[in-house]
Amino acid sequence: MTDYPYAKSFTIHRSLPDHGASRAEVLGQLRAMATEEDSFWETGKCSGTMYCGDHDHYRFMNEAFGMFAHVNVLQRDMCPSATKFEAEIIAMTLALQSGDSARARGDDPCGLVTTGGTGSILHAVLAYRDHAASARGVTRPNVIKPETAHPAFDKACHLFGVELRRAPVDPVTTQVDVDWVRDHVDDQTVALIGSACNYGYGTVDPIAELSEIAVSQGIGLHVDGCLGGFILPFGRELGYDIPAFDYAVEGVSSISADTHKYGYAFKGSSVLTFRTKALRNAQYFYLTDWSGGKYTSPGIEGSRSGGLLAATWAAMVCLGHDGYLDYARQIFETSFAMQEAVTAHRELRLMGRPTFLFSFTSDDFDIYHVNDFMRTRGWRFNGQQYPNALHMAVTRPQTQPGVVEQFTADLAGAVDYAKEHAGETPRSGAIYGGVAGGMTAEADEFIRAVMADMLDGQSALPPA
Ligand SMILES: Cc1ncc(COP(=O)(O)O)c(C=O)c1O
Repeated sequence: MTDYPYAKSFTIHRSLPDHGASRAEVLGQLRAMATEEDSFWETGKCSGTMYCGDHDHYRFMNEAFGMFAHVNVLQRDMCPSATKFEAEIIAMTLALQSGDSARARGDDPCGLVTTGGTGSILHAVLAYRDHAASARGVTRPNVIKPETAHPAFDKACHLFGVELRRAPVDPVTTQVDVDWVRDHVDDQTVALIGSACNYGYGTVDPIAELSEIAVSQGIGLHVDGCLGGFILPFGRELGYDIPAFDYAVEGVSSISADTHKYGYAFKGSSVLTFRTKALRNAQYFYLTDWSGGKYTSPGIEGSRSGGLLAATWAAMVCLGHDGYLDYARQIFETSFAMQEAVTAHRELRLMGRPTFLFSFTSDDFDIYHVNDFMRTRGWRFNGQQYPNALHMAVTRPQTQPGVVEQFTADLAGAVDYAKEHAGETPRSGAIYGGVAGGMTAEADEFIRAVMADMLDGQSALPPA
């Protein structure tokens, strides 16, 4: 049983306090928790999740957020600024995605700002489903995704009654098997998915080849750039070998790109762009005969905070093209230096040809032995399965001086440790590793308990 968070430091609120606490007291508690938790990733030893890590930038965005946090952007008559923010966030994003090339072909690229990567993917799947229903009379829609594409696609298909076909990937390149995709398209397929890049391996699917299938079959191609959308374009500009994955590729019909990742905005924002307004507009929902009035909202959410739009816009305008390019340069250089530290060990192997995010495994021992050792040195990687591998998404905290050197030294120690313990079962393997024999009733119960715990901390909540 874990301890209920901060049970020893602060009161546990099971109902509203009888009398409100002072603002200073509340802020003091929040500050204590934030400071303790920030110290975890400020070392640069935590993969992904903290993309920016610059507290000055956070303070600046908080100021922008604070001016509009209380505003509901659904009521645009009261906040014309929200239209400026949203339109310009979309325009700035499209400019990074060869939106001009779509315009030159006579398309009308557009977008919407959502609450995150999953939000963008949900909206995309909904748009493909509803567009295909009205344009092609599709009644049993299916989507084909590479196995490596994010589970948000599985979630979207589950929620919207769309069949999901999972295409295998090449075990060496980690890219989708394009022939399999071609063979599994039918008259009910509404879209193909490709990642640029995928979460697991940081590799980019063959978007040009997927595009050929999409064009020849008259179906959509969504590129999931949730992770790479705000860094890979700058990587290409820096000369790294990254193939085109945006609207310059004819068949690409929508792209998700998360401002709350390498866009360095606050959590809760992502941009979903479309090649055509017809596709975006297909997911609109409105109710004109409701007693409460005529209801319209351009996306799945109802009320949204103006603060997130303002802070996202502020981040993009303040960093500018040269700011993003500079951060990308530092991140790519750091990632490749860390990859060299990995490949210096003949026992370790990189998965595919990664970019700013890499994943590695071993054919000599269970890679979770490396994880076990690295954890004792404060490192936090994301664990993968089939095969077991460790993944490191390089973000700005890793670009601090000394982090690569520390990684290199700790990794050498970890490889020695792994060799010594190769015959044993790694401790962290139980948490991350593949479930042999598939999902059991016990594993299902455990996963449900973990999710419930996130919401109510039940297993650790001390008795009242
Ligand atoms: C490639 C990719 N797509 C989609 C998502 C989902 O994004 P979110 O967690 O913001 O919903 C992620 C998250 O890491 C991702 O890496």
